[in-house]
Amino acid sequence: MWKLHTKCRACGSDKLNSVFSLGLQPLANAFAKPSELQSAFYPLEVLFCPLCTLGQLSCTVPPSTLYSNYPYVTSKSETMQAHFESLWKAIKSECEPESVCEIGSNDGDFLNFARANGAVAICGIDPAENLAEEADRKGIQTFRGVLDQDMAKTAFSAMPVIDLVVARHVFCHVDDWQEFVKSLEVLCNKNTLVVIEVPYVLDLLKNVEFDTIYHEHTSYLSIKAMQFLLEDSPFQMHKVIRFPIHGGAICIMLRHRKSGIDPHDSVSQMLHSEQITEDDWNEFGMSAHAKIDNLRELVLKLKADKKSIVGYGASAKATVWLNSLKLSRDQVAFVCDSTSQKQNRFVPGADIPIVDPGALTRELPDYAICWAWNFFREIQTKEVLFREKGGKWIVPVPELKIV
Ligand code: TYD
Repeated sequence: MWKLHTKCRACGSDKLNSVFSLGLQPLANAFAKPSELQSAFYPLEVLFCPLCTLGQLSCTVPPSTLYSNYPYVTSKSETMQAHFESLWKAIKSECEPESVCEIGSNDGDFLNFARANGAVAICGIDPAENLAEEADRKGIQTFRGVLDQDMAKTAFSAMPVIDLVVARHVFCHVDDWQEFVKSLEVLCNKNTLVVIEVPYVLDLLKNVEFDTIYHEHTSYLSIKAMQFLLEDSPFQMHKVIRFPIHGGAICIMLRHRKSGIDPHDSVSQMLHSEQITEDDWNEFGMSAHAKIDNLRELVLKLKADKKSIVGYGASAKATVWLNSLKLSRDQVAFVCDSTSQKQNRFVPGADIPIVDPGALTRELPDYAICWAWNFFREIQTKEVLFREKGGKWIVPVPELKIV
């Protein structure tokens, strides 16, 4: 069962105001097989905390429901490889990590990268059995479950000195932030570098990336909220770096207060420049609904003109869009995706099948809506034949455009 969330995850305030809603939505990664029932629906609403500026969901779905069999695999794309390189460079400017523990290690891709770049001891923590098995096959020890103090003790007993703890795009999935920080205390010594990367709320608001709001993402992190969270903890923000990955991400490095290393100027600079208000969220909500109306109008007009339309990228974003647009396979015939775990399944909440990317050039539809817009440049290059044969791309974010 889902639970109602009433207290701010970062500062504990109970004065949370509703700023955005997409009504009832299915779980964005619950891709059903043909024989299975379509997904359950849960409220999708963002609450804003005026005290610490954290945006957070009102409804928390238990991790066991969300992640027991999880089809999201860290992208094997060139864009992601290039990001790993940039992130690693940023880490290496701080330390030479020989032992690395990754929280939310998925199928072990980042740990594999760390190993190839000099880490000699690695371990991961992830609740998805199917992905942990894949990591095991790569020789990466993976502890099954979400991070809590017990899990941290288990990982710590396997790796008592950890130079680097990485949490890439997982902190935004965490429900109990206090427990997360206490677990870090178990894992870290005073020299450990902690790297937390999440989508940055300023990019979300600026580019109206409403499709990155779904039940797995329990919060939309601001630096100010992180400062509130760490106030009484042994950790402090050490450095803040913005990256373009996934529509705009922020990497927050933490260090122990006893590390003897002064925080980088980026922390105070970005704290000072970050001003997020309830009005920003309200404006965002209006723009998001206008975006949904615009794309729906475009699709219906194209269908009235007898055009064929498909989707590309069965991302969680595609689920949010398709359920907000209230479209079915009559309008969007199928969605292509390279992830084998998603193929031959259906977009959650919609009866639209997911097929292999080859279908794009086999079927040659008139239009393909790119719901992996964060990889559009790479996809466009890969699918050059589609354009050459007269197909057109519809890219819905940041601005709706036809290419
Ligand atoms: P992604 O943006 O990583 O995530 P989210 O689910 O968080 O929105 O999803 C991108 C999807 O697009 C993923 O399912 C893989 C797919 N994809 C392709 O099918 N082909 C490609 O070339 C790339 C880069 C991604």
